[in-house]
This record gives sequence, structure tokens and C-alpha cells, in this order.
Amino acid sequence: MRIAMIGTGYVGLVSGVCFSDFGHQVVCIDRDGEKIARLDRGEVPIYEPGLEALMRKNIAAGRLTFSTDLAAGMKDAEAVFISVGTPARRGDGHADLSYVYAAAEAIAAQIDDYLVVITKSTVPVGTNREVARRIRAARPEADFDVVSNPEFLREGAAIEDFMRPDRIVVGLESDRARAVIAEVYRPLFLRETPIIQTGLESAEMIKYAANAFLATKITFINEIADLCEKVGADVQSVARGIGLDRRIGPKFLHAGPGYGGSCFPKDTLALVETARAHDSPVRIVSTVVEANEARKRAMAGKIIAAAGGSVAGKRIAVLGVTFKPNTDDMREAPSLVIVPALREAGAEIVLCDPQGRKEGEALLGEASWAGGPYEAAESADILVLITEWNEFRALDFGRIRAAMKGDLIVDLRNVYLPAEVRAAGFSYVSIGRS
Ligand code: UDX
Repeated sequence: MRIAMIGTGYVGLVSGVCFSDFGHQVVCIDRDGEKIARLDRGEVPIYEPGLEALMRKNIAAGRLTFSTDLAAGMKDAEAVFISVGTPARRGDGHADLSYVYAAAEAIAAQIDDYLVVITKSTVPVGTNREVARRIRAARPEADFDVVSNPEFLREGAAIEDFMRPDRIVVGLESDRARAVIAEVYRPLFLRETPIIQTGLESAEMIKYAANAFLATKITFINEIADLCEKVGADVQSVARGIGLDRRIGPKFLHAGPGYGGSCFPKDTLALVETARAHDSPVRIVSTVVEANEARKRAMAGKIIAAAGGSVAGKRIAVLGVTFKPNTDDMREAPSLVIVPALREAGAEIVLCDPQGRKEGEALLGEASWAGGPYEAAESADILVLITEWNEFRALDFGRIRAAMKGDLIVDLRNVYLPAEVRAAGFSYVSIGRS
């Protein structure tokens, strides 16, 4: 099968590489010439475990190429994916669809034989029908179908998620499109991956409802965690205790500093906007958006309170700045709110992150960067863990204690054992564990 992938951002690149690994002939198209040149040389512009090796393997096998030329890239393609960005528009939170529609119109100009146009970008309900309308308006005689195929890739585990998904969701309305999709995903059908076939609107809604539900689950446990602190309960026991109820499930019940990343913040906002536009409010999701924003700010207050009410003149070592481990992505990371607030409160900041420095240097302002946790701890009054990279999980607390000037550890991800940290001579504050 010949596939064209428009957009080499996170989703487009991972999907393009994985489809080529299925044995398809894939051309990844992007108008950013510099990026395409790097990809051509086998360089991956983002940090995603396993992606570079898989990409190089498929380039070497002749199945994966890159191009800035949409017309040439689409030549003979049987399926073309739209996986361009849909950022939240500044001001109103609506998903910005201008890139999606521009891609649809560019595709329309190139349709030759029957073509299936598949939207992978996360787009609000109604967008796929509008994509079809625009292609039809541009090329009334063209033979094509539009399919909605949302992705559920987690950064840091994207290849595993692509190769072994819980399910594939496709919104489509013709047997011809169904046959093409079956061919595109054939290796996963052979592994008996469940496939949910729906109409266009339901497929679009599944994506938003899934992300909003997960964001709600996280926000729920975060608020329960705060209450646990007040009443003397332990949120980790509570999460285990409720998670074993199969109706609830154990995942996404880790209390922390609030969710971030490229999806949950943007998609929850977009869903709230869609609901408002249809006069059908999703009050729970609106509250989740607000609570999560407030939480990031509250985390700085928690650190200041743990320090006795002031961090002025204190040296704070921050472990982890990316929105989660195994990525270099800083989008909507809690650190972007917490670090500036601590600096404004008069603290001197030392940052440490296995992959976050490249992006983080520009975003996090005045701070020094340490090469590892022990270097960061040197002369620090307070050590704060924001992102739970494996590198930070098994610290030698004796060594950290010897390096630090102060004795306070604030763990915003509950990765340490309170008894162990306290035995090493620290004062220890975590989330939802009084
Ligand atoms: C998410 C979805 O999981 C994926 O299916 C979707 O399509 C894209 O968005 P991603 O943003 O890569 O993926 O990361 P995820 O692992 O879901 O974490 C999102 C955020 O929630 C992170 O900030 C993470 O730290 C936080 N989180 C997650 C928690 O605070 N607690 C949890 O229990 C789980």
C-alpha cells in the first residue's frame, strides 16, 4: 500500500514510521524544508524512545522517504493522512483548523484515482465532514472518501501504543474506504486488535471524550489527594483501593502536580468550546480545566509552605521539567508555572532534566542547569521533584543529604518512600500523604 503522511509532527512522524514498518511504502510530507532534510539524514527532531532506530531501519529498507513536495509525495498514494497541528487558538481555546483545511485543499488539487483521505489530527466534531465538503467543492468530479482515524499515542510510549493499541477507531461511511483501512492496518487486524467502526462524528467525539475522561480521572485523584492530606489518609492506598474495582480501573490514578502535555490541556479546552457552541455544557470538563490550572499554581504555594512560608534567598534544586518522563516535550508542563512562581518568591533555581534542557532553557528563564541530581543538590536548601524520570527514582539519599545545605524534599509525584527519606535525615513532603 502506498501512503502519504502530511505533517511530520509527533503524531505524523510516529505513524509514518510505524506504517512503513508494517511494510507499506510511506512518504512523509512537511513544508519545513530544514526538518525534512534532517529526517532524510535519519535524524529525529524529537526525543521518543525507539523512534530513531525504527525510522533508520525503514529508510534503509527503502520503505520510508521524506519530501517537501506534496504533489510528488502523493503520486500513486492510495491513502493520504492529514496529521498537521490543531493548536488551541489564542484567546478562545477553539482548535485552530487552518492547517487541516489547507492540507485538505492541497490534497484536493492532487486527487487522481480513488483516494482515501484520513484525518489523524485531533479535530472537533464536524471537521471531517467539512474536510469532505471542501475537497468536493474544489474538485466536484474527484473520487474520494474521508475517514476519521484519531490516535491515542502517549508520548514516551508512542511506538508501543501504535503497534499494540487497545483499539483502533475509524469513522467512515463507505465500503471502499473500509477496505483501504483494513489494508492499512492489516498487521493489527491479524493481532486481533479491536476496531471500532463508527460514523465520522462519533469517531471525532471518541477522541475528545477519551482524553476528557482521563483528564477528569487525574483531576479527581488530585483533589482526593488534597483531602487525604487534610484528613490523615494516604492517597496511594485510596487509589489502590478504588482502582481494584474494575468499574474504576487502576490506571491514571497517580496524584501529582496536574496534567500537562500536548493533548489533555488542548483537547479539554476544545471540548468545552464545542459544548458551548452547541449550548450543551460539559460542566465536569469545564471544572477539570479550571482545577488543573489552579493546581499548577497551588504547587508553588505548597513548596513555599513546606519551606516555612518563604523561599526568599533559598536555593531550590528542581528535578524534572518536562511534562512527563521519556519526552523532551515542555508543552503545558507544570514546571512552566511552578519554577517562575518560585523565582518570583525570591528563590534561586537549579534545574536538572535528562532531556528537557534544550526546550526548557528558553522557557524557564533565569536558572542554572545541573548535569544530574547530585550536582543539582549541591548546596541546595530544598530539593523538589516535578517529573518522575527513572534517573530520579532510586537516589542515594545519603549522598543527596551530604550535598545539600538544607534538609527539605518536596516530591510532587510520590516516587519516594516516606520512611526511607525521613530515615536519611530529611523533612519530606509529598502529595496526599500526610
Ligand atoms: C495523552 C493520552 O494518554 C493519549 O492517549 C492521547 O492521545 C494524547 O494524550 P500524553 O499526553 O502523551 O498522552 O501523556 P499521558 O501519559 O497520558 O499523561 C498526560 C499527563 O497526565 C501528564 O502530564 C502526566 O504526568 C499526567 N498524569 C497521567 C498524571 O498526573 N497522573 C496519572 O495518573 C497519569
